[in-house]
Amino acid sequence: MRPTLPTAIILTLALAGLVHAHGGTKDKTVLARMDAMLDSKKALNILGDMAKGLRPLDPDRAEQAKSALVTLSRQTPELFKTHAKDPTSEALPLIWENWDDFLKKNEATVRAAQAVDTKTLGGLQQSLIQLGATCLDCHEKYRKIKN
Ligand code: HEC
Repeated sequence: MRPTLPTAIILTLALAGLVHAHGGTKDKTVLARMDAMLDSKKALNILGDMAKGLRPLDPDRAEQAKSALVTLSRQTPELFKTHAKDPTSEALPLIWENWDDFLKKNEATVRAAQAVDTKTLGGLQQSLIQLGATCLDCHEKYRKIKN
């Protein structure tokens, strides 16, 4: 079964704009949080490819990616709690002015990652749309995309 068109469009939107090169990032704290975000993107892409029918739904692989997303998103508060700076960072200072709201948005991502349905294609598609929306919800407010 192929995803319906709107699903494919929403997923593509959710996954767009997440490409970034780490050339030149010197601050180790900033690098660590960027790496964690990139790992989330990789896990999300694996699930996204399955949802879009680009690779077969493999429940074991999907569970691994889901569990990586849960673990990574749970690390976000620790990774961001210090206001580390780097010229390459896309993190907006607003994060540390609105820390509780930032945590709240992250909690939504943790919950959506936990709710990813790896059993059926339809369930995977729906739950990934929910998850992708929570990533975007935080990025829209707290990340300034530089490239
Ligand atoms: C609570 C806020 C928040 C949530 C939720 C969040 N992000 Fe991020 N993300 C950020 C911030 C802030 C940055 C910029 C970090 C920096 O450059 O210092 C970022 C950066 C990124 C980057 C760029 C990393 C790089 O190479 O510099 C990717 C990719 C990314 N996020 C993917 C995701 C994905 C996928 C999800 C959902 C599964 C997600 N993010 C959820 C806040 C969030």
